[in-house]
Amino acid sequence: MRLNGAPPGPGPGDGPIRADDLPPSARDAVAGLWRYRERVEREAAALFTGLAADLAAAGLPALAARARVAADDEARHAVRCRAIVDACRPGLPPLSPRAVVVAPRDPGDGPPADAGRRALYTSVAMGCVTETLSCALLLAMRDAARFGPSRAAIAGIVKDELEHSRLGWAHLAAVAATGDVTWLTPHVAAMRADALRHDVAELPTTEAAGPGADDAAADLSSFGILPRARVTIVVEATWRDVIVPGLARHGIVAAPAGEG
Ligand SMILES: [Fe+2]
Ligand SMILES: [Fe+2]
Repeated sequence: MRLNGAPPGPGPGDGPIRADDLPPSARDAVAGLWRYRERVEREAAALFTGLAADLAAAGLPALAARARVAADDEARHAVRCRAIVDACRPGLPPLSPRAVVVAPRDPGDGPPADAGRRALYTSVAMGCVTETLSCALLLAMRDAARFGPSRAAIAGIVKDELEHSRLGWAHLAAVAATGDVTWLTPHVAAMRADALRHDVAELPTTEAAGPGADDAAADLSSFGILPRARVTIVVEATWRDVIVPGLARHGIVAAPAGEG
């Protein structure tokens, strides 16, 4: 079996890809990536639970209900990630979720005092930035994934992440329709940096297999690990073509890719 350059999806004559087909170092890389994603999904569940409370306190019950559903979705995503870990490294214990806070980094800038502003900051950071980037990356992963547990997880997760992204954009549009949201402009660069750190920089990638890895370890796209170069292309295109213009529609100015 040759993984490099494998076409998206199984083709005629292709047998199923199994974890046992991978050398141990590549199996570790696959398990490591999905264990990290499992942790991020648990952290996202906690963030959406907090967002739901703030949205309810801000008098936005319909959006609060969507945030509660999102929290449940994220917990389910963690279970899907665990299925891949178990397929590659049975018994590998989960990473403990971190106490992730979505708020302005500089205390001098805030954080926004009232629940409404706090909720909007969270919605934009999570929905408009993180989840929008995540959708684009998952769609790219879906095109390349051929390993059964990875395909199942990606297919199940991506449709939920699209809704989580829509939740953020819907909240932003609703607030912008009746008030000024441009106070978010100075915070967009930090939102982008946080999203890239959690969803990109800390993720194991192909390079995690290390120099000198054999051919099978050189491209793990079939298992849901995109090459770093591909991740960069998808992130920059999504930032430039979706997120920057989406924020600009409401008067929020975001720096072009690579400057934020
Ligand atoms: Fe998720
Ligand atoms: Fe999500």
